Amino acid sequence: MKYLSEEMIKNKKVLLRCDFNVPVKDGNICDDSKIKKSLKTINYLLDNNNIVIILSHFGRVKKEEDKKNNSLKIVYEYLKKIIDLDFISDPEDLNLINTSPKKCFLVENTRFSDIPNKKESTNDLNLASYWSSFAQVFVIDAFASLHRLHSSTAAISKYLPTYLGFLVEEEIKNLNDLVFNPKRPFVVIMGGSKVDDKVQLIAKIIKRCDQLILTGGILNTYLKLKGFNIGQSLITTDKEALTNFEKITEEYENKIVYNNCFIVKRNESVIEVKNNEIQDNDIILDNIVDNSSVLLNAKTIFLNGTCGKYEEEDFNKGTKKLLQMLGKCEGNVYAGGGDTAASINKFDSAENFTFISSGGGATLEYVAYQKLPALEYIKENNK
Ligand code: 3PG
Repeated sequence: MKYLSEEMIKNKKVLLRCDFNVPVKDGNICDDSKIKKSLKTINYLLDNNNIVIILSHFGRVKKEEDKKNNSLKIVYEYLKKIIDLDFISDPEDLNLINTSPKKCFLVENTRFSDIPNKKESTNDLNLASYWSSFAQVFVIDAFASLHRLHSSTAAISKYLPTYLGFLVEEEIKNLNDLVFNPKRPFVVIMGGSKVDDKVQLIAKIIKRCDQLILTGGILNTYLKLKGFNIGQSLITTDKEALTNFEKITEEYENKIVYNNCFIVKRNESVIEVKNNEIQDNDIILDNIVDNSSVLLNAKTIFLNGTCGKYEEEDFNKGTKKLLQMLGKCEGNVYAGGGDTAASINKFDSAENFTFISSGGGATLEYVAYQKLPALEYIKENNK
């Protein structure tokens, strides 16, 4: 497996997999950091006289109707102001590409090919071979998608010489210590709204770290399992996830830390309460993480998720305070996750971090398992 930085790719047709799955609100991209981070590889390939065909997924596409709100056109509109770019809305039109070097194309959402028969998300070889037929080289720069074994992240590497782009290289090199050799005490902070898709990862991570600080919606679920009234607050309803979460947190009870200070919405007012003061109609919308002794002692910290509804003034105190406190920590501080990165930007706290990963699920999975499915596949299939 080679890095793009180790090879001179010139005068070629290059298939480039980026992760342009950016958050959008009211028709606007609200965090463009993933796109910006991809520009180094795109510009390098263009500067070296290559024709660059970019693939990316965007959102979740499970049925025909999902296509409407998940077009990559929004990213095209953004990117065409920066580079010379055309949009290919139908991958069949890739046949028509006949152009001079230094030209870039963005192909419509790879997940559209999951309709009607799942292809992209089953790592379909025919689809990968079709895409590959338009290029001579494959560059994978979608670090945030490497936990997905999909045609555009993995199978293409069976057909084309494959290189890891600059973004992937930066991620792997910066995450190395956190993933393989975290200095101890190693503290993980897990927040955000959902437990469901994180349970397996929490089970792995809790074994690896010395302390796990729970906050956000994950903490609501934990409190509920401990028998506290959490009113109308958000929790996971997935039975299997709940059972597994209960099992893990019971087994590693001694590693779990949380702070007993919550901001709840009670009728029309916003008040601060302890967990045993929460009433039936309260909604927990923020948690003040103030575990300074744990954090100041840590030699490695990994933050994934926020403490509350940080987009709203009334409920951003917890997230803001935690980000400030991380700036006082002497250990290495890492962050991963879309909302986490967005909150760091919102509260101007990037300088408090050793490294902010562009991955969400991918970074969590890398920390939990020390490997990523697409990366393993590429290693195996592109020797
Ligand atoms: C992300 O935003 O974490 C990646 O783009 C992966 O998206 P996915 O969870 O829809 O596969």
